[in-house]
Amino acid sequence: MAKTIEELVQQIKERLNIVDVVSEKVILKKNGNHYWGLCPFHKEKTPSFSVNPRLGIYKCFGCGEGGDALSFIMKTENRDFMDVITELAERFGLEMPARIHKEGSKELKDQMMSACQKAAEYYNTYLLQDKSPDTLKVMEYLSNRGITKDIIQKYSIGLASKAPTKLYELLKAKFSDEVLEKAGLIVQSRNQGYLDRFRHRITIPIQNEFGDYVAFGARAIDSDQSPKYLNSSDSLIYNKSKLLFGLYTAKDTIKEDDCVILMEGYFDVISAQAHGITNAVATCGTSLTAEHIRLLSRYLKSRKIYLSFDTDSAGQKATNRNAELIKEAFQGLGNIKQFDESYISTSDDRYACEIRVIAPPEGKDPDEFIRSVGAESYKEYMKNAPLLIDFQVNSLLSHKKELKTPIDKTRFIKELIPVLQEINNEIIQSEYIKMVAGALDINEDALYREIKKSKSLETIASPEINRIVKKNVSISEKAQKNLLSVFLVPDSHFTFQQINEMIGDTQFTDEMLIIVKSTIDKLTNSVNNVKELIENLYTAFLDNPEIQNLITDLISISETFNNLDDRDFQNIIRENINKIIQCQKDEEKEKMRNLYNSANDNETEALKIQMQLRDKINKRLKLEKMND
Ligand code: CTP
Ligand code: MN
Repeated sequence: MAKTIEELVQQIKERLNIVDVVSEKVILKKNGNHYWGLCPFHKEKTPSFSVNPRLGIYKCFGCGEGGDALSFIMKTENRDFMDVITELAERFGLEMPARIHKEGSKELKDQMMSACQKAAEYYNTYLLQDKSPDTLKVMEYLSNRGITKDIIQKYSIGLASKAPTKLYELLKAKFSDEVLEKAGLIVQSRNQGYLDRFRHRITIPIQNEFGDYVAFGARAIDSDQSPKYLNSSDSLIYNKSKLLFGLYTAKDTIKEDDCVILMEGYFDVISAQAHGITNAVATCGTSLTAEHIRLLSRYLKSRKIYLSFDTDSAGQKATNRNAELIKEAFQGLGNIKQFDESYISTSDDRYACEIRVIAPPEGKDPDEFIRSVGAESYKEYMKNAPLLIDFQVNSLLSHKKELKTPIDKTRFIKELIPVLQEINNEIIQSEYIKMVAGALDINEDALYREIKKSKSLETIASPEINRIVKKNVSISEKAQKNLLSVFLVPDSHFTFQQINEMIGDTQFTDEMLIIVKSTIDKLTNSVNNVKELIENLYTAFLDNPEIQNLITDLISISETFNNLDDRDFQNIIRENINKIIQCQKDEEKEKMRNLYNSANDNETEALKIQMQLRDKINKRLKLEKMND
């Protein structure tokens, strides 16, 4: 039996054949030492997805996805690590290690979660059973906003009374002060020892995606009580920027329906889920992050996301902001869906993501809408929810009555242009331009020209100086990658120790590379060969797909360093170190120049314009040459 999870993973990996695993989902053809197929992570017509059986890895040269057999299963099936490991262990007849985690903090974390759960149970029981006037008032409030006893039970909604230490008195027999404090349930006061953190509030326990209780959102009861929501701070078990409220109860539906609804508040999600809209989630009082999106995309094959925020202007802003963030998170996977199939044939398009907006005219937020108009009607709005682009154009156009003067119109069009500019397909774009011009009663050609003009301005606007810095960064990054990949060359004659000495104290600047480098440093003390190093590297970053992709990148770079004689091998290391140093020097020079420039601002402006002009002329010449 495996003693540790690492050992078990090792045993599983020995039994997995990357070609077999991938072949379950991709048709592979052998070519040389590699297998090739159509990438399952992005839409393509010619294969850029390769499998390397010798190293046990896959990599797509189109979209950059890469990893080993385990991460292939996790990514293509949207499953988490423990889930996959448990199933494979069973399939191969391997026993799970008795104690899955050995770290000391695991015990602390377990205790914190168990304390949160006990607290949730206590608050919930108190709300349901206490018959004091204060509590009955809260029950009445909840019932007035459609929160039935069933819902209270299902979501363990509770009440923290006004008493200062009730929870603490109850839990201190079972948990240490450290556990309770770290879990955010009690706070140390200046002169009265520990006090309950939540008092005179409706408590909403927050579960992570596996159902563990990790935090609370607590709503004020009196209208003059501030803040309206008191949320647990981040802790060892709670990271707001990686957790979505409601995901535990929503994840099955999200996966089944292949879509999710993002809402703003706890009660929006509770209302929606309680009324059968079970794929709704929300952030816990923070803004949406790329990590939230990554978390969701584990359950979302086609990355279809509905945004359902407040209908006021703040809600509209949130919609636009979050849509931007989602687009950014999926950048590189293709285009965002901008029109419905019925409108134009899209047979060869697969989308990076599909964003739709649910914005019914009545009700302040989804919770109010569902309560006052009904869940069925909400579902109807969901079915007909416009794509982001239509929502944006329409919500802008809805202000058109306020536009009186040409100046009003011009200002308004400035807002609209970036939206129209984003439309990828020119035919669709021209349709929108026609529609908008008609709605605003302005000249269609003029609008068209404005759109093209501001686009070309955008490309000119990035100053030469920035470009140099950017180019430099990428040269240095490439060199840093090369240098790290040297560790992964299977048949080099140098030991890890020797390679380390050659690299010396070369400064890595890229954040992810620094992390990988330090992990390599640690691992090289314990592994025997490159194969083990690679396997352990993947395992170390199982929860970080971005770094897994980077590792795969490094491995494919390392392949180009195979079969070098020792002198060439050393030269490669030296060259790349020199490049990194050179880039650092250049960067410093650049900084100096910038300093100098800002001291001579006016002259710089003239110089910049000259540079841009030259750049433009060069581009034109190049184009003409190409057309010749
Ligand atoms: N929020 C917060 N802290 C606040 C106010 C709001 O963390 N002081 C978060 C909560 O997650 C809340 C969400 O922002 O659920 C939306 O806030 P708001 O629209 O003000 O509240 P509702 O969810 O509509 O709450 P209710 O229906 O109870 O009024
Ligand atoms: Mn509300």
